[in-house]
Amino acid sequence: MSILVVGGAGYIGSHMVKLLAGSGADVITLDNLSRGYRDAVKYGEFIQGDLGDPAVLDDVFINNQIEVVMHFAAFIEVGESVTYPARYYHNNFTNTQTLLDAMLRHDVGYFIFSSTAAIFGEPDYTPIDEKHRKLPINPYGHSKLMVEQLLSDYDKAYGLRSACLRYFNAAGADPDGDLGERHDPETHLIPLVLQAASGRREDIKVFGNDYPTDDGTCVRDYIHINDLCDAHLLALERIQKTDSSAQYNLGNGKGFSVKQVIDAAREVTGKDFKVTQDERRPGDPAVLVADAKLAKKELGWRPEYADLESIIETAWNWEINFLCKKSSDKEQG
Ligand code: UFG
Repeated sequence: MSILVVGGAGYIGSHMVKLLAGSGADVITLDNLSRGYRDAVKYGEFIQGDLGDPAVLDDVFINNQIEVVMHFAAFIEVGESVTYPARYYHNNFTNTQTLLDAMLRHDVGYFIFSSTAAIFGEPDYTPIDEKHRKLPINPYGHSKLMVEQLLSDYDKAYGLRSACLRYFNAAGADPDGDLGERHDPETHLIPLVLQAASGRREDIKVFGNDYPTDDGTCVRDYIHINDLCDAHLLALERIQKTDSSAQYNLGNGKGFSVKQVIDAAREVTGKDFKVTQDERRPGDPAVLVADAKLAKKELGWRPEYADLESIIETAWNWEINFLCKKSSDKEQG
């Protein structure tokens, strides 16, 4: 079976490519390298190209027997989406429709979609289950919810089967140390805390300390990248077996505050570093925790790295053994 991974050079996509290759699938990555890295694609065939270009997609589908598409090529910054909404609607929605339409032209019937907790907006209750109302509060969340709507309509009208996987906070790195998170600029909490621990960053700024949480900082549900990728494989099996589409919230069901993440990082790394209190970051809900019972029940999904320490440990390994070396190579010229 050939699987096309669109955005396979990015953080989540590159881990997915590794898992798929290890499971014996024939993997092809399509990525325009606008945010990903060629050297993160360590398995299968690599095609540099744009998913917004129907001619590129036609070529890929004509030249390969693709049965499944997994789509990771989205922009993910909430703040950026507020400043540049056109960029988000174009890449995350319009280009995804271009991809889906190409799949229909070439009779490719299964699609796995990276959705997000951001489709729910400010939660009415936590943990958030699949039935929670969907009311995004930023263009990023809207662009993803619009794709979910499109997928629901394409399922009914064209029989395209899909799984929408709503990630909470993807974190951690490949436990073998081959891959990890490499955003530029980095905005996510765990990699930034670890940059402070390794000395690549002067301090970690805590955005807000007056949220209605136990210690006043925001609470998030961190999920290890490998567990997230496992859920993709299980979701694919499910939609193929049941010949139906599905949606799942993916997280560990346990929330950690920004302060707890910082404390855990001190514990895991054995390093102390400077913590600076800063203003709230616009658009941050106080608490985002997943109710992932449905994924556990229907997919038999069992997260392996469910504790925060092992998530941080794998990310720390990546920080010191890859990112620090890269940045010192860069400094030396
Ligand atoms: N934070 C800090 N300091 C930092 C960076 C982050 O205090 O330097 C805080 C944030 O304010 C937030 C928490 O740490 O409270 C987690 O922030 P991240 O940026 O790591 O993650 P988000 O929860 O903002 O983002 C995640 C995904 C997004 C997705 C969003 C949905 O990474 O792609 O959830 O709400 F859009």
